[in-house]
Amino acid sequence: MGKHSELLARHKEVLPAWMALYYEEPIALVDGEGRRVRDAEGNEYLDFFGGILTTMSGYRVPEVVAAIKAQADRMLHTSTLYLIESQIELAERIAELSGIPDAKVFFTNSGSEANDTALMLVTQYRKSNQILAIRGSYHGKSHSAVAITGQKSWSATSLYPFNVTYVHGGYKLRSPFGHLPDDEFTKACVGDLGDLLDIATAGDVAAMIVEPIQGVGGFATPPDGFFGAMKEVLDRHGILFISDEVQTGWGRTGEHFWGYQAHDLIPDVLTFAKGLGNGLAMAGVVARPEIMDSLQANSISTFGGNPLATAGALANLEYLLEHDLQTNAHKVGNQLKNGLHHLADTNPEIVEVRGKGLMIGVEFGDPTSLAPDPGLTAAVMEAARAEGLLIGKGGLYGNTLRIAPPLSVTEEEAEEGLEKLTAAIERAKR
Ligand SMILES: Cc1ncc(COP(=O)(O)O)c(C=O)c1O
Repeated sequence: MGKHSELLARHKEVLPAWMALYYEEPIALVDGEGRRVRDAEGNEYLDFFGGILTTMSGYRVPEVVAAIKAQADRMLHTSTLYLIESQIELAERIAELSGIPDAKVFFTNSGSEANDTALMLVTQYRKSNQILAIRGSYHGKSHSAVAITGQKSWSATSLYPFNVTYVHGGYKLRSPFGHLPDDEFTKACVGDLGDLLDIATAGDVAAMIVEPIQGVGGFATPPDGFFGAMKEVLDRHGILFISDEVQTGWGRTGEHFWGYQAHDLIPDVLTFAKGLGNGLAMAGVVARPEIMDSLQANSISTFGGNPLATAGALANLEYLLEHDLQTNAHKVGNQLKNGLHHLADTNPEIVEVRGKGLMIGVEFGDPTSLAPDPGLTAAVMEAARAEGLLIGKGGLYGNTLRIAPPLSVTEEEAEEGLEKLTAAIERAKR
């Protein structure tokens, strides 16, 4: 029995069945450097998914590793009962970068907890449990985050703490308004939002929560300005705007540092996770001060923003800014997207290539009817692994490949990844 099959047998005994594993024969990754990883049986891969967009700067970045080691040599944890200098410094940096005036930051351990906190803040501030979420959304696994999940396959329960209304988002390919040009599409969705506020809500609504580009939803990307136009309607009703930047933050979209910046708006609340810690448990909420301070009772997160996570995240943020990884994401992202469009020209089963920067979705379906093709998508994923390329999968029907390498990916690696994916599609169609 190989190492992977032995681990799989043990995994199945003691871990939940609903924790999905990639690949017919799941693999364990044990070592990495830059954008390359090695599995427990010695196979090497180019990693274009970074542990779900989380390894942002790359594996074994010396500056980040050194900061974590230095902190681990002193102490791991003190709790938020004591001042933590690295937490304060990181909050100062994030508050300034967020674009939210006089912002305050609360650190958590995961994106789910960050969104959970954001939802508690806005519902308390607005004294309403009504939330607007986007069709196809994913915001995490906490009970409140599942409540605002717009995908059946990720909705584990319907026993929700909120009253949720699902609004049209930017997934044009399968939208009833999808045939319209971008500006008319936006107008139609905004019009529908107005209708929903009139017919499906009961008085004051607390907030709308959006992913500027949907992650698990298959990198569905709205036209620029889409959410700004939505926010004009929200503003007329005093409804707050939460931007979930768990996947789109820190320059991943290339054009901007935050996904919301493509939409000509400033959010009231922003949540982040994944990339900032480059793998450390690091997440949080940024909010206008009157919203952040609106809670009337004590609240803490024991581990949130602890010395280890904040020291590592500070070093990672420094690395990201110093090396201008956002510009790299823009440049290499365009190169990858061009290559993928090229691939779509010769493979009509690719019905759409979309996304921005290093967040690119490749959707598979029937070229004529557009019927989703999850089978071919899974086959391409498998074949890519066999070619030595790790990529992700998502979309409402599991028919979209997600390509999202670390932001430090080079042009040569992008070329190599494209070659591997081309070979994988050929292999999968054979
Ligand atoms: C947009 C978005 N928000 C929130 C989350 C939840 O983050 P976590 O898994 O760290 O709880 C995810 C996770 O994939 C996500 O993609």
